[in-house]
Amino acid sequence: MGAFRIIGGKRLSGTVKIHGAKNSVLPLISATVLLNGECVLHNCPDLSDVDAALGILNELGINYERKNETVRVFAFGPRNTEIPDRLMRKMRSSVMFLGSILGKKGRAVISRPGGCELGPRPIDIHINALSRLGARVREKNGKLEFTAENGLKGADIILDFPSVGATENIILAATAARGKTTVYNAAREPEIKDLTDFLNAAGADIKGGGTDTLIINGARELSLAEFTVMPDRIEAATYMAAAAITGGDITLLNVEPAHLTAVNNAFIESGCDIAVGSYSLSLSAPERLKAVKGIRSRVYPGFPTDAGPLIISALSTACGTSVFYEGIFENRYGFIDEIKRFNANITTHGPVAVIEGVKRLSAAPCVCTDLRGGAAVVIAALKAEGESRVGDIFHIERGYEDFASNLRLIGADITEV
Ligand code: UD1
Repeated sequence: MGAFRIIGGKRLSGTVKIHGAKNSVLPLISATVLLNGECVLHNCPDLSDVDAALGILNELGINYERKNETVRVFAFGPRNTEIPDRLMRKMRSSVMFLGSILGKKGRAVISRPGGCELGPRPIDIHINALSRLGARVREKNGKLEFTAENGLKGADIILDFPSVGATENIILAATAARGKTTVYNAAREPEIKDLTDFLNAAGADIKGGGTDTLIINGARELSLAEFTVMPDRIEAATYMAAAAITGGDITLLNVEPAHLTAVNNAFIESGCDIAVGSYSLSLSAPERLKAVKGIRSRVYPGFPTDAGPLIISALSTACGTSVFYEGIFENRYGFIDEIKRFNANITTHGPVAVIEGVKRLSAAPCVCTDLRGGAAVVIAALKAEGESRVGDIFHIERGYEDFASNLRLIGADITEV
């Protein structure tokens, strides 16, 4: 279990190049299961979650080659239809392979994804939607078996909630299904548009990616595709928060500013200046941020839940009292107890976090509780005076490539120990 040693209090300034988006590349890797042919993904981040997704491809009997940021998948259909429990446990997002395996083979077996550090994460919306497409679902010995002996068939699906993962699974399954599927109340996150763009590039017929209504004409022959993964908007928000808490300034390259509008607005309200270019964004922070009264995480284009911990951490030393409302997950606040070790003054009341800005944070030993919560702890440690040790950084390695070296590049004193 690695740790970071961080000597806080340094002002961060410089340029960071953002990697490909974790939350896009995972469904894209799953989508390759549907293809017949070789496919090339550029701008793939080097993350342990990506290793886990590629490990699932291997388990399914699909080969790939990885060279720097390019992954070449030799996609000639899966030989197996079951994702073993050990791989499901490695990465909850393994559930994303359900739609593609079931669509391609008419059968898919997964173990039920357990709860996680963000509270219970059920998959009822996925199951209901796949049932609408004709899948039979049986649960036995902790495993869920989905079967569609005569293949899946297009249907009209109305989602109770625009779940990102369920929308992706429906897209994957419906792309293989016979006939037309219409999805109402679909998730609109940019990663969904990346998935539909990729599948369309491979020969699919999907309209409405990135809107709340998707029309998928399935059962097209999918073959060769070459695609560049979109930039990671949450990685971008993380470096913005790190620069903001230190009163620094940062330029991000390879970002899509339009994906960051809600995040930018929150930083602007906290007193930062933001300038956007076509694929770049600069943030310049005042010496001390101002409190932000009401940020609420919502589905896209609202403020992203994954950036909640980052902004809460950044506002821990703001002037005044900020309030954050977590509107997506039940329990995202595990990291707050860690940040309080730095003498931050944050209280939670159900989904509400009240952040009384303090003048200074002081170093402390602490651990990462989850991926974004871990990044939030590092952000606080970058501000805290003295030497902090942040443990359990495997959480961070799930979603950040070159985290410490990027932070060093902009002036942070952080080493892996
Ligand atoms: C994805 C992202 C995650 C992000 C989240 C919300 C990936 C790999 N992960 O997660 O980083 O925080 O979107 O933007 O892309 N729910 C149900 N039943 C279901 C499915 C979801 O009740 O069948 C609930 C969840 O418990 C949660 C909410 O819906 O409270 C949002 O979940 P969802 O949009 O599905 O998130 P993920 O796809 O898991």
